[in-house]
Amino acid sequence: MQKAFFIVLEGIDGSGTTTHTKLLGEFLKKKGFKVHLTREPSSSMIGKLLKEALLDDTIPPETDALLFAADRTLHYKMEIKKKLDESFIVISDRYLESSIVYQSSQSNDVSVDWIEDINKFVGYPDITIILDLPPEISLERKRAHLETTGENSEKFETIEFLKRVRKKFLNRAKKKNYIVINSEEKIDRVQEEIQNYVKKI
Ligand code: TYD
Repeated sequence: MQKAFFIVLEGIDGSGTTTHTKLLGEFLKKKGFKVHLTREPSSSMIGKLLKEALLDDTIPPETDALLFAADRTLHYKMEIKKKLDESFIVISDRYLESSIVYQSSQSNDVSVDWIEDINKFVGYPDITIILDLPPEISLERKRAHLETTGENSEKFETIEFLKRVRKKFLNRAKKKNYIVINSEEKIDRVQEEIQNYVKKI
């Protein structure tokens, strides 16, 4: 029988987490696995509130952190845990590392310890993959996407902020032994690397 497995893709805005979550899901489904794809902010009412908070830079970073933790707790308990109990492979487009890295980059008053503490009711992923590229390139990709969809740019989508976020992702990867994949390459190449890593594990 298939064993449950929890995979998370992380990275700065425009690093391709959404695209690669979908492609990895398709790949694993084709191999015959039961796969559940999900994302954060989630589709819950707190996730919807978060989507609004992402457009409002007057909201205190502490409130952002608490909302993301509340959304994640609901998401984990109501959806992720249930799917894992049913032996699905769950793949999430962003999860806990986004909170640790983004919210601690917003303010010196928001510590990693505190973020871990308010997120202590959720389970940890089996695999965390960090997609890495320079913010100059990721924001260029984001801009093209916004032009075609007509969506508004969010408050974290600036080069200076994303430079801090990128550095923190890379430091966390070293500390926690997460794999870092260069996302500057063509989509197929990046996806191949992700698949090879997941197959190995
Ligand atoms: P979204 O529009 O889903 O971004 P993308 O498609 O680029 O991944 O918005 C998610 C934004 O929220 C993104 O800037 C990362 C940020 N974020 C946090 O700051 N903390 C978190 O815990 C999570 C999950 C996301």
